[in-house]
Amino acid sequence: MSTLGFIGSGNIGSRLARLAVAAGIDVVMSNSRGPASLAEKVAALGARARAATPEEAAEAGDWVVASIPLAAYRQLPAAGLAGKVVLDTTNYYPFRDGHFEELDSGRTTSSELVQAQIRGAHLVKAFSNVGEQHLTALARPSGAAGRSALPIAGDSPEAKARAAALIDRLGFDTVDAGPLAEGWRFEPETTPYVMPYFSDPEAFARSLVELGEELRSGGTVRSARPVDAGAPLPADRLRTLLRESTRKLPGDRVLR
Ligand SMILES: NC(=O)c1ccc[n+]([C@@H]2O[C@H](COP(=O)([O-])OP(=O)(O)OC[C@H]3O[C@@H](n4cnc5c(N)ncnc54)[C@H](OP(=O)(O)O)[C@@H]3O)[C@@H](O)[C@H]2O)c1
Repeated sequence: MSTLGFIGSGNIGSRLARLAVAAGIDVVMSNSRGPASLAEKVAALGARARAATPEEAAEAGDWVVASIPLAAYRQLPAAGLAGKVVLDTTNYYPFRDGHFEELDSGRTTSSELVQAQIRGAHLVKAFSNVGEQHLTALARPSGAAGRSALPIAGDSPEAKARAAALIDRLGFDTVDAGPLAEGWRFEPETTPYVMPYFSDPEAFARSLVELGEELRSGGTVRSARPVDAGAPLPADRLRTLLRESTRKLPGDRVLR
């Protein structure tokens, strides 16, 4: 029996929970508003799911997914996460999260910032470069044709192996992008980020430009992702994209 804890049960947390339950993994969901607010979500996930506080989800998980806006990273329950493999899905979007000088300057990466907050945990950057719709659209059983790969980065080889084993159960191959300091290789708007999983990358590129214009004219951001069936991204192709990736500092992005 294995259990996956969730700190954050929004778009990404919920989709990953569905994949976990389908793989026979128990899930413990948490958010910022408390367990009662998750009643409907947990009921829809079925008997393998329960709602809890972030501290309880951290303690219950054999692995823990941290899937919150980066702005809230200081609220992660460091004590409960000590010794755990934590899969960090967060991305830094200054328009949403506010500015972090150390990220704007490129002095560190978003997952290093999170790791520094939860020092006792073994952080693995994962699920951060794929749009939520493609998580469920592209998941395939191990060995199936058309399986996609997701990048991981982390400083502990053992934690990365444990994360890869989980991700395999959830439906994806993995490609190791290196330590957390190399996590920039799949941060927002790099070539391995979101776009390669689109069956219609042009539609995504167009929506990105439109959103950038909306933001600059003072508008609020609606959903960044057009509906798309997804296109498998094989491990070899992802490996090439990661190797050739160039750093995109927040100030150089369309969405900033
Ligand atoms: N959406 C995507 O396609 C996508 C893809 C890749 C990576 N990401 C990244 O993954 C992260 C999550 O994205 P999302 O789209 O799932 O966001 P979301 O739908 O807004 O969900 C965020 C979740 O985090 C919870 N939360 C916020 N502050 C918290 C705190 N202090 N303690 C515990 N839980 C807290 C929220 O709870 P409440 O609802 O109670 O506030 C909510 O359940 C973000 O950093 C995002 O950039 C998103």
